[in-house]
Amino acid sequence: MISDNKINDINANNKINNKIYVLMIYGSPRREGNTDKLMEKFKEGLIKNKNINQSNLEIEEVIIRNLKFSSCIECRHCSIDGECFVNDEMQNIYPKLINCDFMAVSSPVFFTAVSGFLKSFIDRCQRFWALKYELKMNIINKERKGIFISTAGSGIKTVFDCPQKTIRAFFDVLYVKYDKDFLYNNIDFKDDILKNPLALNEISDFAKNLIIK
Ligand SMILES: Cc1cc2nc3c(=O)[nH]c(=O)nc-3n(C[C@H](O)[C@H](O)[C@H](O)COP(=O)(O)O)c2cc1C
Repeated sequence: MISDNKINDINANNKINNKIYVLMIYGSPRREGNTDKLMEKFKEGLIKNKNINQSNLEIEEVIIRNLKFSSCIECRHCSIDGECFVNDEMQNIYPKLINCDFMAVSSPVFFTAVSGFLKSFIDRCQRFWALKYELKMNIINKERKGIFISTAGSGIKTVFDCPQKTIRAFFDVLYVKYDKDFLYNNIDFKDDILKNPLALNEISDFAKNLIIK
């Protein structure tokens, strides 16, 4: 079973933190690419949000391409105690995933899926699947929502189907309600998204008006 210490840590974090804690997870390997720019717009909007007491707002950005972590090695250790055996930078990420009040995840579409970086990150969340469905332990005691931001180059209508399913499964194990997605097609080269001001405004307006708690 999961160690008592760990459970206490999680509860303590949840209680002490009166802040509105927004976690932004960047899944593209391309710095300042299309999805990065959309995420920036989300952040800009949040900072202007009048429903949120700005002094309580804490925004944390996780740039997956900068993390040093291994893919899931399928050791199945998490099926025994709900913890991940692999000791790398993902260990610092788990409390953030547990404690955030809102989550924004971004990824470009790669071969009709999320990026490899984001997929490896999500696979390392198998411990949350084990906790929820095998060990039947809910260590996350807050309701929160999440959004998914993605771009694709091809223009093919169904291109976001697989990424949406993956994000749904990721949110599910973390008790995150899939609130909304922002999916933009025919966006391929680095600054293509700048030619779509409607997309940038849509995200910024959403963030400006968001009510988190
Ligand atoms: C390795 C790779 C695979 C890609 N696969 C697809 C694909 O299957 N379908 C598609 O529509 N676009 C595909 N694209 C295009 C990207 O989704 C598109 O350029 C996206 O806007 C990049 O976002 P970013 O700048 O945030 O990384 C691919 C691009 C790369 C580099």
